[in-house]
Order: sequence, then C-alpha cells, then structure tokens
Amino acid sequence: MNAFIQGLPKVELHLHIEGSLEPELLFNLAKRNQIDIPYDSPEALRKAYEFDDLQSFLDIYYQGANALQTEQDFYDLTWAYLERCQHDNVIHTEIFFDPQTHTDRGIAFDTVIKGIVSALKDGQQKLEISSQLIMCFLRHLSEEAAIETLKQAILYKDDIVGVGLDSSEQGHPPEKFARVFEMAREHGFLTVAHAGEEGPAQNIIDAISMLGVSRVDHGVRCVDNEALVAQLIESRMPLTVCPLSNIKLRVFDEMQDHNIVELLRKGVAVTINSDDPAYFGGYMTDNFVAVSQAHLLTHEELAQFTLNAIDASFIGDTQKQAYRKKVTDYLNSVV
Ligand code: HPA
Ligand code: ZN
Repeated sequence: MNAFIQGLPKVELHLHIEGSLEPELLFNLAKRNQIDIPYDSPEALRKAYEFDDLQSFLDIYYQGANALQTEQDFYDLTWAYLERCQHDNVIHTEIFFDPQTHTDRGIAFDTVIKGIVSALKDGQQKLEISSQLIMCFLRHLSEEAAIETLKQAILYKDDIVGVGLDSSEQGHPPEKFARVFEMAREHGFLTVAHAGEEGPAQNIIDAISMLGVSRVDHGVRCVDNEALVAQLIESRMPLTVCPLSNIKLRVFDEMQDHNIVELLRKGVAVTINSDDPAYFGGYMTDNFVAVSQAHLLTHEELAQFTLNAIDASFIGDTQKQAYRKKVTDYLNSVV
C-alpha cells in the first residue's frame, strides 16, 4: 500500500510555506542572518515540537519564522518544499503565505513575495510542479491590518490567486473579516478560510455565507451539524483536511478517531494535505500513509482524495482534465 501511495499523483491545497521550515534550514538561515535561537541544535529544536493545541503550535511557528529575512531565504524555504513535493509525486500545489508575520517585523512584502514566486517559477520549469499562491490574513490581528495587507496584495494580483484566513480560530470568527473578504472578491481574488479546526461548525457555515469561500480549510468539526454535512455533500464544497496536523494539535486523539474516511464515504469532497509539515511530522505521502494505516482504504478511495483536490484546485479546466487523466492512468496501471 505504501508503494501505491508513493507513486500516486498528489495535489496539495493546504500548506503554509512558513510551516515547511525544517529545523536544519532554520539553523542555516539563523546562522546566515546572525540570529540567536534558544536551542543548541536542529535535533533539540525538533524535540520542542510538542503541542497541546493550535495556540501552543502558533507560538513556536511565529518564532521560527523570525529566521526568514531576505528574498533568498524565502526562495530557499520554498525551493526546499518543492523538492519534497517532487519526492512525494505532488504534481500541483497551492501554498499559503502569511505576509503579516513578516511585515510586522520589518520585512518588506516585496521581499517575501519575490522570493516565494521565483522559487515557484523554477519549480514549474525545473520540476514540472504547477502552483498557485494564496495570501492569508492573520485572524488574531485587526480588520484594519487585514485591509492594509490586502492593499499590498492588490499590487501583486498577478502572483496571488486568492486570500485566506489563518491563525487562532477561537475568538476570531469569520464575520470579523467579512468586509475585507468582500473587498478581496471585488478585486478578483478567490477566497478560502480556516474554519472548524478548533472552532465550532458555525464557523464553517459563516465562512461559506459571509466570506464566500471556494473551499474550507480543515472543516472537520462539520460533523457536529448534520444539516451542514448534508449541505457540504450537496454543494461539493471541498474541505482541505490535514490529518497529521489534527493529531499533533489534538483535534483528534488518534488517527483511528479521525473522521476523514467517514466524510469521504459520505460523499464530502475531502482532500489530504500537510498544513505545516516541518512541525507536524510529515509531508503529503506521510499524511496519506498515516490515514491508510489507521483506516482500511482501497486504491480507488486513495485516488479519490487526489481527484477531489484536482476538482477543488484553482487551475483551469484543461489542466484539471490532464491531471485527472494522470490519476486514472496511474490507477489503471496498478490494478
Ligand atoms: N491553523 C491555523 N493557523 C495556522 C495553521 C493551522 O493549522 N497553520 C499555520 N497557521
Ligand atoms: Zn492550516
């Protein structure tokens, strides 16, 4: 089964590029930028990656991002992630970046986006991995700060396909950002939002109705509301689920308890994603393997996660068609 998963073409729709910063690269960047880090080695840092909940992770994640200073740093970060994609047979990826994490400590928006975009262009040319970029607003910060960030994104509209919402869900519901999302949609950005990770099912309902999202990030708490699950099935609203993340942040106690397979079998458009792979113990293949070790899945069901992700992606129909063929060709070649 692991060989099948390794070879399966994959599409990632929920990946925070700052969350792909491996301790080894973090140490190299800190050295290059003469920044002190309160750990003796990458191994010691990795050992500190034990989380009780979303907030305990975010505290360490924002601290780690301090090592990122120059355009080259953002290039190296993104390139390292793309090499992992190549290894995992990820054919397309839509990545999040959090500009406020950087602009708030004096790093220019331009520096961040140029580094990421030039690596993504090289990824397309040298590794044949297609990609899109989604800018997230930090929901623990104010609406005004989000509007300022949107103004900067408008200058880079060609490079950014959509906007999203991440960081602490509790106490920062979708309605806080209804106006800025409306502005974003008026400027032609697609929208997504983290909802129903730690927060209630109501946040999923509100993300759909108040933010006009094309996908819900996480969304696993939908099961608390039967009518919502029925609506998700009916509308084929995609959920970008992150299995290893959910275990690390204790959304579920164990992978056996995870509801992704139950949702798949009910007909919800669930996808598998890695979220913050450097912190949560694995990239795309690791996430697929972890789910399939805890739940008996057929080849067709595993491939369905990729087919759902292709449908949910922000690429054109011709490219979607070509990617669907890659998956069905692969299925036919192994069964
Ligand atoms: N949830 C909310 N905010 C985040 C996450 C997440 O899983 N990862 C990075 N920022
Ligand atoms: Zn996330």
